[in-house]
Amino acid sequence: MAAGSLIGRIALVTGSASGIGRSVCQLFAKQGATVVAVDVQEKANMETLASLLPGNNHCALTADISKPASVNELFEKIKDSFSAAPTVVVNSAGIIRDNLLVRATEENFDEVIAVNLKGTYLVTQAAAKMMLSEKVDCGSIVNVSSIVGKGGNIGQCNYAASKAGVIGLTKSASKELSRFNIRVNAVLPGFINTPMTDWVPEKVLQGIMKLIPMRKLGQPEDIAEACLFLASKNSAYITGACLEVTGGLNI
Ligand SMILES: NC(=O)c1ccc[n+]([C@@H]2O[C@H](COP(=O)([O-])OP(=O)(O)OC[C@H]3O[C@@H](n4cnc5c(N)ncnc54)[C@H](O)[C@@H]3O)[C@@H](O)[C@H]2O)c1
Repeated sequence: MAAGSLIGRIALVTGSASGIGRSVCQLFAKQGATVVAVDVQEKANMETLASLLPGNNHCALTADISKPASVNELFEKIKDSFSAAPTVVVNSAGIIRDNLLVRATEENFDEVIAVNLKGTYLVTQAAAKMMLSEKVDCGSIVNVSSIVGKGGNIGQCNYAASKAGVIGLTKSASKELSRFNIRVNAVLPGFINTPMTDWVPEKVLQGIMKLIPMRKLGQPEDIAEACLFLASKNSAYITGACLEVTGGLNI
């Protein structure tokens, strides 16, 4: 992709303090975007901000995307700070609370749904309203779902349900918003080397690796590149799509 493919775009990225979200911020900054990095972890998010190619008025904002009041406040701050709406949004914030169905708690389920699904919904809704009110001509929302949302996984009933929900949200929003020049797509990562997968024991990782045709975990940069493609005008005729970035893993 040509360098500078996001020049002049304001890009809001949630989950920006770590893993995939941080990598998206770094790549988007290199591509000329003004990055609005959003995370609940303030200190780590400031580290992301410090790691961005300088010069484009990037900012780091603290918000809990699972809370409507926090999301409202976030968009008020964005309105105050910038004269235009973000035309790129990447919803990467997410959590896991893994356990077998018969052992998992209702609290685990509620937490995972609140961040992964409701949080993605709240940010998508607020961003869409702002883009609609400004009649943008090239909006792009990219939701980070998971291959587990398509195929399920042992120990991840709550997570798989949340990520399947993100796919349904993406497809529905794309049908509503495409005629207003706002595309909505999802990326479905496989197993990616981030703090989210750090806890996986080596033995389990070796088992997972055997299922991946490319025989290796993905890197956050692999997902960032897919997000860049969907954010940029290179994917101008793609909406409602689910792009699998899994090294061939198809569970
Ligand atoms: N790592 C993988 O193998 C993998 C695979 C498939 C999908 N995903 C998805 O990719 C996304 C990013 O995951 P990652 O691997 O980078 O994980 P990560 O744990 O490294 O990063 C997640 C970030 O989300 C932030 N976050 C959590 N709750 C939040 C909230 N309520 N409000 C704002 N920010 C919040 C965290 O602080 C963290 O910075 C997630 O949605 C995850 O489900 C990851």
